[in-house]
Formats: sequence, structure tokens, C-alpha cells
Amino acid sequence: MRKTEKNTGRVIPFTDLSSQYHSIKDDVDSAIKEVLDSGWYILGKQVEQFEKNFSHYCQAKYGIGVANGTDAIHLALLACGIGKGDEVLTVSNTATPTVLAVTYTGAKPVFVDIETESYTIDVNKIEENITKKTKAILPVHLYGQPADMDPIMELAQKYKLKVVEDACQAHGAEYKGKKVGALGDIGCFSFYPTKNLGGYGDGGMAVTNNEELDEKLRMLRNYGMKKQYHSLIRGFNSRLDELQAAILDVKLIRLDEWNEKRRRNARIYDRLLENVVKPIEKEYSKHVYHLYVIRCSDRDGMQKKLTDAGVSALIHYPVPVHKQEAFGEFKNISLPFTEKYSSEILSLPMHPDLKEEQIRYVSDLINSG
Ligand SMILES: Cc1ncc(COP(=O)(O)O)c(C=O)c1O
Repeated sequence: MRKTEKNTGRVIPFTDLSSQYHSIKDDVDSAIKEVLDSGWYILGKQVEQFEKNFSHYCQAKYGIGVANGTDAIHLALLACGIGKGDEVLTVSNTATPTVLAVTYTGAKPVFVDIETESYTIDVNKIEENITKKTKAILPVHLYGQPADMDPIMELAQKYKLKVVEDACQAHGAEYKGKKVGALGDIGCFSFYPTKNLGGYGDGGMAVTNNEELDEKLRMLRNYGMKKQYHSLIRGFNSRLDELQAAILDVKLIRLDEWNEKRRRNARIYDRLLENVVKPIEKEYSKHVYHLYVIRCSDRDGMQKKLTDAGVSALIHYPVPVHKQEAFGEFKNISLPFTEKYSSEILSLPMHPDLKEEQIRYVSDLINSG
């Protein structure tokens, strides 16, 4: 039995969005005021500017602001021509929206197990899952670590598949020195408030180097229109709004600094933690530690111990997608590593403003067993 921790009154939150806001308050407030004063709130110059800046940051030619990350994936798959009767290879060890977005198109998600160190798609198990119906691969750069993209792109070329990157947790992460998002056909980002780059509401973006895909995505997000009031295709209402774009543009210039602070905090955890499996930065990757995820055998006991001591530790994700009630038709498939790890993983507090002594407090609790 793990000994019960006495609550000392200390609280270590999982993330701290309010302190981040206060550190950039003047810039954010004046960006918000500028939008409110402008009288233009949807698809205006703020979205245009942020699309330009964020796509440039991702080393992509085009950026299309959308309402959230789920929509970015959904519209990206549609733009690639994915629909009913098609299969999309992805993982079950992810947030459900990755897979929901596949099902929205009418396509069938086909789950590939994960690799044991990065927790991203196992590139050695992709080919055996390719059928005549396979149209796309949807790797997830989970927790801020890129999937192994070179073998994925080679398979995509061999079988003529599209590649849509779910980069919703990986703003600024790099694969062999290149930013994620522009490695495949389309990269999808979420600006949910807790993300490495997060707004003060929902938001998302798809980035691409392909002009045709850019044009399709722009139509898909805005009722299928290229020219106002003329719908060429049956599109959606999925737009990033001017307020979020203005806020995100203010935050974008700090993203690299915040990612470096996350990386520094990860190195401190790496140094201090004992007797648990720590995250690994793959040799091809620059990990941006959206989450710092450890593995331990008595995960639930450890989480309780941390909670009792005022430390917020969460699980990403406690139930793999194929075992969720909403995806009942997949419940009998076997994904050994995905299933095993879902009962061992634990995400520790991680954000740029986390202090070394807070990391020490968390680590000491974990090390004391
Ligand atoms: C891996 C992953 N994919 C997709 C999404 C969906 O993004 P959003 O919540 O902005 O729709 C998220 C965010 O929750 C995510 O973490």
C-alpha cells in the first residue's frame, strides 16, 4: 500500500493559463481592443495576418484558420477527397477528436498500434494494415513528439496515400530539423487554451504547401464559397474568429521561448525522477512537451498520492479510442501496447512557468514510492 500523503496546503496546478495571461496582459488587451474597435469580427485582417505568420512559422506556404483542431482534421481529410468507403490509418492512443474527424467524413478509421518509446504510430505496423480501401495516413504527434515521418511518407508514396498530420499537440515540434505540420499534405493544429499555442476560446488551423488544397480548405471552412454568396461545394461554417487570431498572433512571438521553457522543465524532471519510465526525445525529434508523460506500474495509486499532496496529475488518455463506448464496433480489436500503456501513463504538471522547486516537490513525491 502506498502511504497517504499529508496535504501541506500546497497546490501545484497542471497548467497555469492565468499567470501566462498576466505576463502578456498589455499586449493581449490592446490586440483585443483593436479588434473590438475595428468593427470587423469574422475573416478579416487579423485572421489573414495570423494565417500568414503561423504558416510561415510552420515553414508552410498556406494557413487556413478554422474553428478548432477537430475541424482542421475533418476539413483536411475532405479536402484530400476522403469519404465513405475509404479507410484512414491512425492510432487509438490519442484524443477522441482525431478519430471523430475521420468518422465525420464517412471513412473508416483503421487503428495501428503505437511504438513503445514515443507512443506515436508504429511505422513498422502500417504496411500490414494497408488495403485497397486505404486512402490516407493520419499520424498524431502526441504529447509534443513528432511521429517518425520519413517511413510514413515513403509508404504514402508507395501506395499513393495522402498524409494528414494531427499536430494539435505539437506546435513548434521538429522532425529532423523541420517543423511538423508541413511534412505531409496537410498539418492540423488546435488552439484550445491549454495547447502550447492556445487562444482564449476555440480555434484551429490547417497548413499546407499545396495551392489546390489551400483553395479547397478555404471553401470548406466558409459554406463552400469562393465568392461571397456563391457556394461551389457544400461546405461548413468553421472559421477562426478575428479576436482569437489577434490574441494568437500576440502569443505566437513567444511560442519558441515558451517551448524552450517546457523543454528546460522536462530536463529537470528527467534529472530528478527515479523508478518510473520517463519520456524519451527520439533522435529525430525536437519534442515540445505539450505533456510530460511518465509510466508507472501503480499509476492510479501514484495519481492519488499526488492529488492528496496538492499536485494535479492527469491521464492522457485513460481509455483508448477503440475501447470507448462511442466506438463500440472496434472494441474487440487488439492493440497490445496502446492497451497496456493506457493503464500506466500519468501526465505530470507541465507549463512554461513551472518552477524548479515545484518540479522537485512533484519528483520527491514520486521518488518516495
Ligand atoms: C491530438 C489531438 N487531436 C485533435 C484535437 C482536437 O482539437 P480541438 O479540441 O481544438 O477540436 C486535440 C485537442 O484536444 C488533440 O489533442
